[in-house]
Amino acid sequence: TELGLVAVGFSGGQCKPGVDAAPMALIESGLVEQLKDDLKYDVHYDGQVHAYADLMPKTDPDYRGMKKPKAVCAVTKQLSSQVYEHAKKGRFVLTLGGDHSIAIGTISGTAKAIRERLGRDMAVIWVDAHADINTPETSDSGNIHGMPVAFLTGLANDKPDAPFGWLNDDQRISPKKLVYIGLRDVDRGEKKILRDNGIKAFSMHDIDRYGIGKVMDMALGWIGSDTPIHLSFDIDALDPMWAPSTGTAVRGGLTLREGDFIAECVHETGSLVALDLVEVNPSLEEQGAAETVRAGVSIVRSSLGDT
Ligand code: ARG
Ligand code: MN
Ligand code: MN
Ligand code: MN
Repeated sequence: TELGLVAVGFSGGQCKPGVDAAPMALIESGLVEQLKDDLKYDVHYDGQVHAYADLMPKTDPDYRGMKKPKAVCAVTKQLSSQVYEHAKKGRFVLTLGGDHSIAIGTISGTAKAIRERLGRDMAVIWVDAHADINTPETSDSGNIHGMPVAFLTGLANDKPDAPFGWLNDDQRISPKKLVYIGLRDVDRGEKKILRDNGIKAFSMHDIDRYGIGKVMDMALGWIGSDTPIHLSFDIDALDPMWAPSTGTAVRGGLTLREGDFIAECVHETGSLVALDLVEVNPSLEEQGAAETVRAGVSIVRSSLGDT
């Protein structure tokens, strides 16, 4: 299978430095060789971790309460076309982040390519402790990594000349084709957005109640068979026991085995078209960084058919 790999060393969607070093840490641990040699992918990788230094604005004042709006806008717009170029050639697209704001770029890129190639609307499975669906107005932090889903679904809109005005309808996803797994730290405003829009979400409570096997049956049942799926996996979905080195860790999360199981189930559908792995921050925990990188590698391998 053809695979396009995009390494995104970007941390501007939140305030803690270090998440930009994750792609290199994942690659240095041998991920690319594993994809080629063990899993037999034909990997297309430009050999660089993109930092988009040339796109960084000189000044970047808050806009509608958003921090670093111009930087996140410029990076996600550029990333969107990088991902689109791979996806339109029929390649699976693996993006290594970076913070979760980069999903504005990845998902918009695959959504557009899938519409053009297959004439289909794509589904998104968002595995995360957080819903990342704040609008600029509901966000308490102003960090854009807590907002990507609001922009991608069009629930937060921007005028054509404003930061995310570059997003067009053919790059967006339907709130009806979005499924969350692993939620346990959802802001009050986000809960209202999920409720008002009938968005499907499986929280840690649901996983405790039904077990991960039943939850995956329900999640994939909601999407329906034969629908292309983009999996966006925030490493903080995992419990800090397995992934401590991340910017917004929340206790009471998935075991690594549950995370791998989710990835395996999505792979088994045969409909997975793209994967994001985000929010690994190797600089936050001296002890836990290697553990967190290992967990990230495991999630990627499981998503790509390793059993
Ligand atoms: N809900 C919080 C916020 O809006 C936390 C978001 C954390 N997001 C993440 N991608 N880790 O700031
Ligand atoms: Mn090739
Ligand atoms: Mn998160
Ligand atoms: Mn997230």
